Amino acid sequence: MKNNNSSDNGNTQSGSLDAPSRLIGLHPRGREVRALLILVLVFATIGMIAVTAWGSLVSVATQVSRTGGWNADSELPSLFRADQAPAAELDGATFVVGKQLFVATCAACHGLTGMGVPNFGKNLVMSRWVKKQSDLQLVEFIKRGRGVEDPLNTTKVPMPPRGGNAAFTDEHIGQISCYLRGLQDPRRIPAVLPAPKALVLPAALPTGPMASLPGIEESDYDAESIRTGQKLFLASCVSCHGADARGIVKLGKDLVKSPFILATDDEKMLAFLKSGRPSSDPANTTKVDMPPKGGNPSLNEEGLGSIIAYLRYMQERDRKSP
Ligand code: HEC
Ligand code: HEC
Repeated sequence: MKNNNSSDNGNTQSGSLDAPSRLIGLHPRGREVRALLILVLVFATIGMIAVTAWGSLVSVATQVSRTGGWNADSELPSLFRADQAPAAELDGATFVVGKQLFVATCAACHGLTGMGVPNFGKNLVMSRWVKKQSDLQLVEFIKRGRGVEDPLNTTKVPMPPRGGNAAFTDEHIGQISCYLRGLQDPRRIPAVLPAPKALVLPAALPTGPMASLPGIEESDYDAESIRTGQKLFLASCVSCHGADARGIVKLGKDLVKSPFILATDDEKMLAFLKSGRPSSDPANTTKVDMPPKGGNPSLNEEGLGSIIAYLRYMQERDRKSP
């Protein structure tokens, strides 16, 4: 009995250690195995949550791309579905020039990224209307513009013919259209683009009696500066303020008769042109943005200075004429 007991005791002792492992039919090193089991369970749960989340993410993404949203390839908003093959690759050189022309002329109203300016130029990246046009139709549209009387106009702001730059040839418009195609579907942009060359922006030839800058030598301002200013004005400000700087209804104000310009010294004018006057500014009366640097970021202080000289000259001439 004693022997039995002792052997029983021994058994019980070793049994008390091994009992739980035996219960679930495991190896004697049960604790480690159990820890491992819990770990596997935790990972499995995390995995399941991840799979579910990914699933709903994918379905949302599919829906967004179907309804026009995110293009997974480019990480940019696009109307084009990532799972559909893009149209032919665009010509790199044409695209690069198109971008330069766009930034200098169209960006004032459509934003530097083409995503539009609130209450102003529409978002061109996400425009279904643009997507539907053939290349030829798009060129024809940009040449024609869309006045406020056009039933398709929803903003009650005019889209000026050739973006307001009458000097744009069909070739320029074609280059801009190529850039628009790339903005809409970035997968069409070649991976390697040629470096942009210095671009001389075509400027609309001046018209009307002020075109030849009569009496320029009598101005208080440097004649050369006025001439440069006229060219820059005709390239950058014309789309909203008109070739004669007399303003365009629903766009820019009359600058020849502007009491603001008359009352503002050169230094303050420079500061004004650099910062513009958004529609949220209490001084803004048109509820249309005057963009910083007239929307042309490439204008430097010297360029803006000559534009000021040109505007001063235009005001001087207007005061002198009967
Ligand atoms: C002075 C401002 C202004 C400038 C400059 C301008 N646009 Fe526009 N553009 C507009 C406005 C406003 C509309 C929207 C008109 C409307 O309500 O349909 C528009 C519409 C368009 C549309 C049609 C979009 C759509 O979904 O219907 C295209 C394309 C376009 N512009 C391209 C250009 C290009 C290219 C340039 C440069 C060459 C340019 N725009 C320059 C103001 C401008
Ligand atoms: C995209 C359109 C647009 C372009 C491009 C643009 N402007 Fe303007 N500008 C406006 C609008 C709109 C106003 C009037 C804002 C307001 O209601 O006060 C304005 C106002 C001004 C004023 C103040 C006039 C006043 O009497 O208050 C000056 C000066 C001016 N612009 C100069 C320029 C110059 C110079 C350029 C070119 C470098 C230029 N703008 C390009 C839209 C434009």
